[in-house]
Amino acid sequence: VTAEKGGFEHFMLKEIHEQPKAYRDTMRGRIDESGKKVVLPELKLTKEQIKGISKIQIIACGTAYHAGLVGRQAIESLVRIPVETDVASEYRYRSPIVTPDTLVIVVSQSGETADTLAALREAQSHGAHVLAITNVVGSSIARDADDVIATLAGPEIAVASTKAYTSQLIAFYLLSLYLAEVRGTQTQDEVARIIAAMQALPEQLENMLAKPDAIKAYAEQISKHEHLFFIGRGLDYAVVQEGSLKLKEISYIHSEAYAAGELKHGTLALIEEGIPVIALATQDAVLEKTVSNIKEVSARGADIMAITHEEHVVSLLKSVNQAFAIPKTLPLLTPALSVVPLQLLSYYASLARGNDVDKPRNLAKSVTVE
Ligand code: AGP
Repeated sequence: VTAEKGGFEHFMLKEIHEQPKAYRDTMRGRIDESGKKVVLPELKLTKEQIKGISKIQIIACGTAYHAGLVGRQAIESLVRIPVETDVASEYRYRSPIVTPDTLVIVVSQSGETADTLAALREAQSHGAHVLAITNVVGSSIARDADDVIATLAGPEIAVASTKAYTSQLIAFYLLSLYLAEVRGTQTQDEVARIIAAMQALPEQLENMLAKPDAIKAYAEQISKHEHLFFIGRGLDYAVVQEGSLKLKEISYIHSEAYAAGELKHGTLALIEEGIPVIALATQDAVLEKTVSNIKEVSARGADIMAITHEEHVVSLLKSVNQAFAIPKTLPLLTPALSVVPLQLLSYYASLARGNDVDKPRNLAKSVTVE
């Protein structure tokens, strides 16, 4: 434990705990005093340009890409503009359809990821306006982009990204609300309701971070396994993809994240007695369907841990071995809370396996080769 780690054993744990502050810092100055409007004075993108956007492409790598998956749902549901998401290393090679009325959003913690920078340049060469969501304002991506929304997570040292991801979610929520206002797709009351829920997130997160014991105990249990599955639907599916990457990256446990409804199209064959399955079940609109997928794996003997809301714990415990409750917010904002137990799970699983949590093997913090 050193002073630079703020009393924490690892940078990763410190950064997980810095998330409430990162949320507050990323929102600060971007919500007007009435609490009914998002303001993004840094944007060069004009209201006229925003009204003319025909399509949005979100491009990033790894964890930043996973933030983009949530960003896509935020934009599509609040602004009703079609959104495509691409892994940056694939973007150029699918000959993407980009026109001057395409808004391209690149997401990068470091702002130095070579694939993301190359995608940015490709998009600009077709005349698209490129907006970067980045944590490093002096970075190459920030310099080359036409617009920047800075996440104010502070320096992220651990290779495994945590606070940068959740701050990217906050940036996407803010951007979506701003676009919705300009395009008139949400009422002022609805925007105010979402803003109020966003402002409650830091405290909800603090409460959750104060009680890590159940997740820690579960992490020790899964650390003895070599394979496991994550399942979820909708936004839960987006979040489990991030949870699975995090777990692989630092614990070296093989895991796959599956859209819960897709399991029966092949992967169910891999479910056998005792295999851990982590089911994220926070999205009420698809809860019943997720429960029926949980029953499919339970019938094959899986050892299931559900992450859900308090009100569903009792009924879910009929089909799962254990359940962990997270605080309730709006469904769209839930990823900003639900990813945190998954971050802690990876952290404690990595720790239990004696790995170098902050510097996992074979990986670099910022990937500057294509
Ligand atoms: C996250 O835990 C990973 N280390 C990795 O996927 C990372 O998010 C990716 O390399 C993108 O980095 P960037 O955000 O700096 O562009």
